[in-house]
Amino acid sequence: MFPTDSIRAQLPHALRETQLEGLGSLYRGKVRDNYRRGDRLIMVATDRLSAFDHVLTTIPFKGEVLTRLAAFWFEKSRDVAPNHLLDWPDPNVLVCRACRPLPVEIVVRGYLTGSLWRDYEARRDPGYDQPLDSGLRRDQRFERPLVTPSTKAEHGQHDLPISEAQILSRGLVEPRHWEEAREIALALFERGQAWARGRGLILVDTKYEMGLDGDRLVVIDEMHTPDSSRYWVESEYEQRFAKGEPQRMLDKENIRQWLIQERGFSGHGPLPEIPDDVRLDLAQKYLSAFEQLTGDPFPGEVGELPPRLERNLRAKGYLSLAG
Ligand SMILES: Nc1ncnc2c1ncn2[C@@H]1O[C@H](COP(=O)(O)OP(=O)(O)OP(=O)(O)O)[C@@H](O)[C@H]1O
Ligand SMILES: [Mg+2]
Repeated sequence: MFPTDSIRAQLPHALRETQLEGLGSLYRGKVRDNYRRGDRLIMVATDRLSAFDHVLTTIPFKGEVLTRLAAFWFEKSRDVAPNHLLDWPDPNVLVCRACRPLPVEIVVRGYLTGSLWRDYEARRDPGYDQPLDSGLRRDQRFERPLVTPSTKAEHGQHDLPISEAQILSRGLVEPRHWEEAREIALALFERGQAWARGRGLILVDTKYEMGLDGDRLVVIDEMHTPDSSRYWVESEYEQRFAKGEPQRMLDKENIRQWLIQERGFSGHGPLPEIPDDVRLDLAQKYLSAFEQLTGDPFPGEVGELPPRLERNLRAKGYLSLAG
């Protein structure tokens, strides 16, 4: 296990944002600083934490965990579908092929939990294609994984649920591309679940983004990271489910729960302060997810990130000397 002292020592160095002059034109997402140059997208994962569509704080080593896990999964799933990863010059940086993103995100769910459970419990119909059976319980496993797409909202807006029928009737995605995207998402999810299970975790649900490279559909963004997915500890699932207890989670849902329960925050009103102990605790969850999934000790080092980023990007020729 990565030492708690090292996580604590990294708290003041957690990366809030980058200013890499000369890397390309910058689009700052909630989590990543994306530099675009020609057909390349250089994605620098910062340590920013967003929840309910707001950036709230930073979590030490989060960007590195996201980057390492995304690279791990992209490599592991190349035989299932092509993806955008081209190079990995730094622990926080992926160099990717820039694509035309589909305007929808493809969420695949294996269990009734999270926002879908919150809707179900409140009897709100999110309007997906198949209505859910009644009488289901929180965290219940679905017979077959469910595809619940959402719109990819413009910057600053919230993503909204959308049905597959609407995606097609509004012409957001061509039918043949949607068919293929759906198949790829389900195949990737099956691969991810099988791997996670072998490592003692349940891949509960996840979100995929896909884009077009010419006419070719490519998996973009991140994959099976604890930001884009839920992971539960498998050995405790049955017992907790039987008792109606919350699952042991190694992902971002931890902080969502903390915000709702401890601060009454679910995206509206003033942004709450996040204490260092909560930041440390979430870092530990992300690091555990990395170590359990890969079977490797987390190799991160305590220290400032900007000098290392510059050094690695220069060494690999992404930043010119004059830049
Ligand atoms: N290969 C790619 N080509 C084009 N865009 C991409 C590619 N991969 C990822 N993206 C986009 O880059 C951005 C990644 O940054 P980040 O995840 O921080 O943004 P976000 O906060 O999730 O989304 P946003 O702020 O855009 O709503 C996302 O908008 C994502 O859709
Ligand atoms: Mg994102």
